[in-house]
Amino acid sequence: MTKEIRVAVVGAGLMGADHIRRISTRTTGAVVAAVVEPDAGRAAAAAALAPGASVRARFEDALDLDSLDAVIIATPAAFHEPVILPALQAGIAILCEKPLTDDPESALRILEAEQQLSRPHIQVGFMRRFDAEYLELKALIDSGDAGALLALHCAHRNPSAPPSATTAGMIVDSVAHELDIVPWLAGSPLASVEVRFPRRNSLAAKNLRDPQLILLETESGVLADVEMSVNIQFGYQVRTEGVFERGVAEIGRPSGLAQWRSGSYARAEHANFDTRFAGAYDVEVQRWVNATLLGRTDGPSAWDGYLVAVAAEAGVLAQTTGSRVEIKSGHKPAFYELPPTGVSTPA
Ligand SMILES: NC(=O)c1ccc[n+]([C@@H]2O[C@H](COP(=O)([O-])OP(=O)(O)OC[C@H]3O[C@@H](n4cnc5c(N)ncnc54)[C@H](O)[C@@H]3O)[C@@H](O)[C@H]2O)c1
Repeated sequence: MTKEIRVAVVGAGLMGADHIRRISTRTTGAVVAAVVEPDAGRAAAAAALAPGASVRARFEDALDLDSLDAVIIATPAAFHEPVILPALQAGIAILCEKPLTDDPESALRILEAEQQLSRPHIQVGFMRRFDAEYLELKALIDSGDAGALLALHCAHRNPSAPPSATTAGMIVDSVAHELDIVPWLAGSPLASVEVRFPRRNSLAAKNLRDPQLILLETESGVLADVEMSVNIQFGYQVRTEGVFERGVAEIGRPSGLAQWRSGSYARAEHANFDTRFAGAYDVEVQRWVNATLLGRTDGPSAWDGYLVAVAAEAGVLAQTTGSRVEIKSGHKPAFYELPPTGVSTPA
């Protein structure tokens, strides 16, 4: 492996452009070799962030022509599998934005293809596992200092949803983060999911059931309630409160400059995910690059992505039944027991 990996970024929308900027300005050991994006305007704008990168409309062309070591996939979830499968066949490293795929069947196909290789090549972009505050909460849980973790209160709030947002998609694309982070925090797999709909936000598109309340239970009995809102206007917020035997702990409050003025107290809230989790994305990508240089992965695996796809499918079913739906994931293949380095290694 060379000292600088050559990365193709597939999909140059919000997340892809952010990763291109990150690799070109802040990440060491990697260069953007190709921007793969069918929208010519977006491709040109993204390529301007990465001097020397080729622009391709098809990933296969970049694989053939750009001597790739790795790929970051930042297309919508339905278009992840068609990039992952040829990337696996080429044996290059893969950082795939969450969710791995939008259904368990395609996730299973990916697991099968990956297991043809000698070791895992896929890392999934569940970046909360690299966020400083989540890591502090995880350390507190694992230390046992506050006693056992009993419950979690989670809120995941977005200012506004694109017209393409759907009621099921709120689980598959957005609650996906909690479907990964809750079992990771609790150190126990998800066992069931239940979904209820509060009064509808009149600012949401007519066909969208927003907000949603999701109740997750882990095999160890930790209950996590999740409020998922996608049209809450005021800003972007992800908060988590852990309830322990001897206290509570919270992450995700606004920080930075506090102002007491004109009879009020104020702190700026994030407008979107790209600032709230900027540090987490930086660490995620840098550690992925470092691991790739060593022939490893260093974060959530394709198996973790599959577990989220299974839980999301149960969640979408729970939306329609209104009752508790069990989450049955099966056994983790030995292939994924090989310890990756870093944060996803069980404590
Ligand atoms: N980790 C996070 O916090 C986070 C935040 C936002 C989005 N995401 C994930 O990132 C991915 C992209 O989301 P986004 O918000 O950037 O979407 P987006 O719609 O802004 O951008 C997607 C881009 O992919 C391009 N595209 C579509 N099909 C393609 C193909 N076959 N080949 C190449 N390019 C293709 C589109 O033209 C578009 O430019 C999704 O999986 C999403 O869930 C993750």
